[in-house]
Parts: sequence; structure tokens; C-alpha cells
Amino acid sequence: MKLIKYIACSLLLLPGFGQAQQEVPTYLDSSKPIEERVEDALSRLTLEEKVALTHAQSKFCSPGVARLGIPEFWMTDGPHGIRPEVLWDEWEQAGWTNDSCVAFPALTCLAASWDPEIARLYGKSIGEEARYRNKTVLLGPGVNIYRSPLNGRNFEYMGEDPYLAGKMVVPYVQGVQQNGVAACVKHYALNNQEVNRHTTNVIVDDRALYEIYLPAFKAAVQEGNAWAIMGSYNLYKNQHGCHNQYLLNDILKGEWGFDGVVVSDWGGVHNTQEAITNGLDMEFGSWTNGLSNGASNAYDNYYLADPYLKLIREGKVGTKELDDKVRRILRLAYRTTMDRNRPYGSLCSEAHFAAARSIGEEGIVLLQNRNDLLPIDLNRAKRIVVIGENAIKMMTVGGGSSSLKVKYELSPLDGIRKRVGDQAEVIYARGYVGDPSGEYNGVKSGQDLEDSRSPEELIAEAVAVAKEADYVIFIGGLNKSAHQDCEDADRKELGLSYGQDKVITALAKANKNLIVVNISGNAIAMPWVKEVPAIVQAWYLGSEAGSAIASVLTGDVNPSGKLPFTFPASLQDVGAHKLGEYPGTPRSDGSPIVDQKYNEGIFVGYRWVDKEKTKPLFSFGHGLSYTTFAYGKAVADKKVMGQDETLTITLPVTNTGCREGSEVIQLYISDLQSSLPRPVKELKGFSKVKLAPGETREVTFTIGKEALSFFDDTRHEWVAEPGKFEAWIGASSTDIRNKVAFELK
Ligand code: BGC
Repeated sequence: MKLIKYIACSLLLLPGFGQAQQEVPTYLDSSKPIEERVEDALSRLTLEEKVALTHAQSKFCSPGVARLGIPEFWMTDGPHGIRPEVLWDEWEQAGWTNDSCVAFPALTCLAASWDPEIARLYGKSIGEEARYRNKTVLLGPGVNIYRSPLNGRNFEYMGEDPYLAGKMVVPYVQGVQQNGVAACVKHYALNNQEVNRHTTNVIVDDRALYEIYLPAFKAAVQEGNAWAIMGSYNLYKNQHGCHNQYLLNDILKGEWGFDGVVVSDWGGVHNTQEAITNGLDMEFGSWTNGLSNGASNAYDNYYLADPYLKLIREGKVGTKELDDKVRRILRLAYRTTMDRNRPYGSLCSEAHFAAARSIGEEGIVLLQNRNDLLPIDLNRAKRIVVIGENAIKMMTVGGGSSSLKVKYELSPLDGIRKRVGDQAEVIYARGYVGDPSGEYNGVKSGQDLEDSRSPEELIAEAVAVAKEADYVIFIGGLNKSAHQDCEDADRKELGLSYGQDKVITALAKANKNLIVVNISGNAIAMPWVKEVPAIVQAWYLGSEAGSAIASVLTGDVNPSGKLPFTFPASLQDVGAHKLGEYPGTPRSDGSPIVDQKYNEGIFVGYRWVDKEKTKPLFSFGHGLSYTTFAYGKAVADKKVMGQDETLTITLPVTNTGCREGSEVIQLYISDLQSSLPRPVKELKGFSKVKLAPGETREVTFTIGKEALSFFDDTRHEWVAEPGKFEAWIGASSTDIRNKVAFELK
């Protein structure tokens, strides 16, 4: 008894014992489900705190609730690396010395890899960089469909096909978000050009909307569980994308059940009432420098700031929409900054540079390789001549909001020099002068590319050195300056600028061993295609550009990328241009709005090629290898497929060459009879397989009825119509090796 008393007394003396246990409030209790925490947090907020959550407090940040320990929300571009820090109220870089990043290849390159696992690696790596830099939301990836090769931002997107873009965006989003950083998929939706980007009102039929322009967003939301989406600048049905009843409320939040936040594009909000009711959750960038409008705090003047509060206080709008917005914003906090298990991330790690390199190597496309000129035979080559501005120009600075400040960027010339070492002499000549500048928002490339020689002098020099070479590598293309693959401006023509065609033609005459490496995020015209034996599509490859290009040119890596969009022979071979409404028709009533009707409807990219029977310069899905592949006979597991059944198609693919290589086998579905017009064929499966020389592997595709469906705009639903179909197996959209007939019951 004595002993028990003694123990009891001792326990009472222990610090804290006997005092009421401090209760963790539900909103902070990580053992509670997120939705419970959201409701609890919501119930504690004042009206002013709620409104404050819905709009920015600086260029890239919106407030949290300090009183409750809810952190601020920090956004960053996206989508190819983590943008340098900017001044609080301005676009200008802040001049930090610890915000240099790894530049990953542009998303067109990622799409060209046709490898979802590479997309996952991309997302994971860039997500780690974002996390390390303490960002809540990465503003990317972009999945606007490639409608015209003039669109200045195609390089930030994933090509012309909704299925391919959908398959690639999902693992990217998942990879980012596993770091506790939200992916913000952009620009939703129909942001298919940069000309008049704030004033274009897109008129598109529901079939094209649902079949072409929305599926990649839908996949990002439903399969990738994206936590954020960015509204677009353009209008649809006369409402801006950032507050659009149809796109945001009806489709995204209604039909697809999106539970994340809709973030405005920077300066994409125009109207308080619409911003309240039409699905926007967070407003950013409403004034360019954040300080104008004659107010002491411009952010209070945002559409969703004081004007919103005023309407609520006056009883003109209720708080139903506000609570919905705030719930979503709180959910974002719990998924990101308030997730106790959020990893820490890393910046500029070796693994990230290695990832950047392998994404580049997987995405480079060998377009043409006559007489097996490539790979470069370093046992034979004594002198390699490299020509062209893009061999030396830094490509990570420029292009608009995706511009970066990198820890390093290895240029193609340096990459080639590094790889060739002393096995051969590498000589460089400029060939042409494009854009010698290199600065974006205060980040300077630090290169001095000025050259005052005339085009004739530059060509003469290039031709003279080319004549003496074993190989001539011309590296040119576009360069992310205005009208050359850049935000806020489209390209002016399909052709190359700065007289590059002339240089290439002269080089082709001077040396038959000419390789053209095109750096771009868009298709270009190639009037010299017949004169140049080897052509490589090399994209914007980021920090490891030089290594990736060198490894493909020398054969260390066997190219396996395939085009994610068509290279048309001319603009007239593109539906958007042929049918004449690009870049839009100004209204006669004096309003700034420019209407643009997508007259080609669902016939975008190869769908247009098939319908019009045009002959592209290079087809969607095209890409060569240093080895060869034989496609065996494809067989289906059944002849007749029930509505709820799946169909499995298998075929053997053999590497018939003497090098290891990867092939992207593509499955297209052709609907032979349909009540509505349909494309001749549509991509519904692909598989990238790596094969050793002589190796054969079975490739399997399994499809359900969604692969056979079209969007019936009168019924407003997806329909798989019974009837005859064919599965086409191809090495590209125009290189079909095999067809299997089947029927849907
Ligand atoms: C671009 C977005 C970008 C944002 C923030 C806008 O001009 O359209 O893609 O994320 O700026 O930089």
C-alpha cells in the first residue's frame, strides 16, 4: 500500500503529469482524414482570411493563414525546370545565387520519347527540384494540342495527339506530386496559339473539344489526380478560360469531378463576377508589375480581393462559392506544405542531370539517314566540322515564362567536342547569325554571339571548312527568341529564318556527308530535304543538350524517339491554315475579341493528313533507328468483341539489325462504318520495346470499348457503335505494317 502511494506521488511530481492533455485541433491532426481537417480549418477562418486565400500577395505567392499555421502558397514555372526567383512584385529575377536549376528537355522532346516511364522520371526529378526550392505548385506540364506549327508555345506541350499526350502527362503529374508539390496542368483549354492570346475566342464543335482538345487534361485529372489546373488566357463561348462556366464548372469540376484548385494564368482574370461564379479558385498576376492601379497594395484590388469582399459585405453575393474555393485551397495545403511526410527534394543533383540526359537521348528523333551516314564513325573520321549558331547558343534562356537560370548547359558543340576527344579534329564555323542576344528577365546567358560578317562571308567560311571534312554537322533551327518558338508570339512562317536554308544548300553541295540537326519545338520546312542525307530532330534539350546530341550522333545511344506531331510539307497541308481562319477574325463591333473557328474540327494533325491524303514531310510517329525491326503478324484474341469485353492484339517484333535498339510500336484503330464522320484512324496504344540484336519480343495491346468510341455531340456522351473495326499496327502513322479486323457487338 505504501509502495503504491509512493509511486502515485512520484508520478504526480513528473512534469506535465495530471495536467489536461493539450488537444491537437482537428485541422492540425495529421491522423485525421484531409476532408475533416479541411472542414475544421474552414470553420476557423474569418471572411477576410478566406478572401485573402483566393488571390496573390506577390508575383508568384499567395498568403496562407499565419495565425493558424497554414503556410503561404508558392508557385513556380515550369514546365522544364524551376524558374529563378523573381522580385516580390516584378518579373525581373531577384538575383539570388542559389536558385540555379537543372533544365530538363522541353516537353515536345518528352512526348517524342513515347515512354511513360521517362515521363515519370521527368516528373519525379523536376518535382524534387521544386520541393527543394520550397514550391507548393509547379506551373506545368502543358498539354495543349499542337494545332498549328506556328504556335509559339508548342515546345512546352506534348504534340498533336490526345492519346499520346494523355499517356505521357499522367506519370509526369504523378512523379511531381509524389514530392508533395502540386502539378498545375496548363493551359486549360484551347490555348492553341500565342497571337492574340488574351483575346481569341475559340469556336469549336463539341466533338473536337471532347475528342481532341480535352482528353489529355481529363487524363491528368482523372488518372494523374492533378491537384491544380491553370485556366487559359483565351476565351471559349465568349468567356475567358480562367473563369469559364463551361470548361471549369460544367466539365472540369462537374463531369470530371476535379477536386483541386483552378489557378488563373498570370493576368488571365478580367471580371469579378465571373471569377466568383465560374470556377476560378486562385487569382494571380492581374497587374504586370503588381504595383500599378494607384493603390497602396495592388493585390487588394485584384478581382477576387476587395471587390469580392465588398460584394459579399453588401449582400450581393453569398459565400457558397467562396467556401468552395477555400476548401480546395486548404486541400492543396494538406496535400503539399502541410503533409508531414513530404520529402525534402534536391536541387542540381547528379541524378537530375542524368535524368535530363536520358530524357533527351530517348526523345531525339532520327528523321532521315540515307546510306547509313549516321552514326558517325569515329574510327574513320579525322575531321568533323560543326556549323550553325544553335551549336553554341544557350537555349535555356528565352522562350517566355519557361526560361531558366541553369547551373550549366552543355552546348551541342561542347558535347560533340567532349565526346570526340582527340579521336578527331572538331572545327566550328558560324554559318549564319541568328539572334546573338541572350537575356530574359535579367538572367543573362553571358554569351557574346555578335558577329558582324556578312551572310556571304559566313557561308564562304563554312563551305571552305566543310569541303575538307569527313562529316559536316549543321546545327540550326529555331531559338526561342520572338517568333522563333516563344511565348506571346507565333512564328511567322514554317521556314527557317536567318538564311539557314541557303547555308544548308551550300553545305550539301560542298560535302555529301552532311548531317542537319534541327533544334526546335515545332515542325519546320526543309526545302533541302532531298539534298541532305541525314536529318536529326533534336528539340530544346536543356542542361545536357550537348551530351544527348553527341551520344546519338556517335551511336553511343541508338535513337528511338518518334515524332509527336506531323511535319507538314507546307502550311496549306494543315487544317487550321487550309481552312483559313488562323489567326482569327476581328469582330466588326469594335470589340477587342478575335473569333477563331476551328473549321477542321476533329481533323487535326495526322487525322487531317489521312482525310485529305496529303503527303507530310515527316509523319506523326515517324522516327528511325540505327538498327532495323521486323514486325510479325498481328493476331487478335477474338473476332467479335462484346461491349464490356476487351480485345487483345499481339505481335512479335524482332530486331533484325546488329545493334541494340528500341522501337515504338503504334496501334491505331480504324472504324470502318460509323454514323458520324470519323478520322481514318486514331492512335489507341503504343509500346516502346528494347531489343538486343536478333531478339524477338511479343508486344501486346489490350483495348476496351473506349478505344473504339467517339463523342456523340447530340447525345453528349461517348459512344462505341457496333460494327466493323480494324486495328492497324505501325512504325509510324504512315508506315502501317499490319491490320487486324474485328467487330464490336
Ligand atoms: C504563362 C504561364 C506561366 C505564367 C507565370 C504566363 O504568362 O502563360 O504559362 O505559368 O505566366 O509565369
